[in-house]
Amino acid sequence: MPCEEDGWQPADETVQLGGDIMNGQFYLQVLVFLVIVLLTACDADGSAGAATSLEPTATVTPDPVTQGHQVFVRICAQCHGENAEGYANELNAPALDASEHAFHHPDQQIHDWIVNGKLGVGRQMPPLGDQLTDGEVHAVIDYLHTLWTEEQLTAQQDITSRWPATPEPTWTPQP
Ligand code: HEC
Repeated sequence: MPCEEDGWQPADETVQLGGDIMNGQFYLQVLVFLVIVLLTACDADGSAGAATSLEPTATVTPDPVTQGHQVFVRICAQCHGENAEGYANELNAPALDASEHAFHHPDQQIHDWIVNGKLGVGRQMPPLGDQLTDGEVHAVIDYLHTLWTEEQLTAQQDITSRWPATPEPTWTPQP
């Protein structure tokens, strides 16, 4: 049998390894070679994995509504209440859920009030722009959208889409 003649038969191998030093070294060299090949392959896999993990898709970013809810709890809830039910402290902040009229205002106005504050009659919301990134302001507005009924949200998105960035005067100023 060819295998027996080449010394590849396991039974012969054992005998030859024990009795022939040269043959033992040959097997050792083959073994070392195989280990190197395997390690190189692992390295290649390892670096490919590392490269993949650097791609943006591998980064875990919470969706805007989840991020917005976190912002709400961290900053807005102290005045507007944990569930936006309003009146959490003496500043009399209104409810922002479906029970009052927050949805009457377009996103642009809400954005402006969060950043620059809002002056009301006998009460006032402080400016919060220095505590939030622009992304967080957008995220908290996305979260407010989830508190309204479908009908309220549709109406609010309608005024948001029609709200002028720079309003044209609809009146003629007196000379
Ligand atoms: C320190 C208290 C306080 C904090 C914090 C605060 N608000 Fe207010 N907010 C108020 C008060 C008071 C008013 C009412 C102002 C007025 O009468 O015009 C108000 C009004 C509003 C309104 C207008 C509601 C309406 O129906 O007219 C919106 C929208 C709003 N806040 C959103 C937010 C969001 C979002 C946050 C968090 C990023 C926040 N507020 C944080 C106190 C606060």
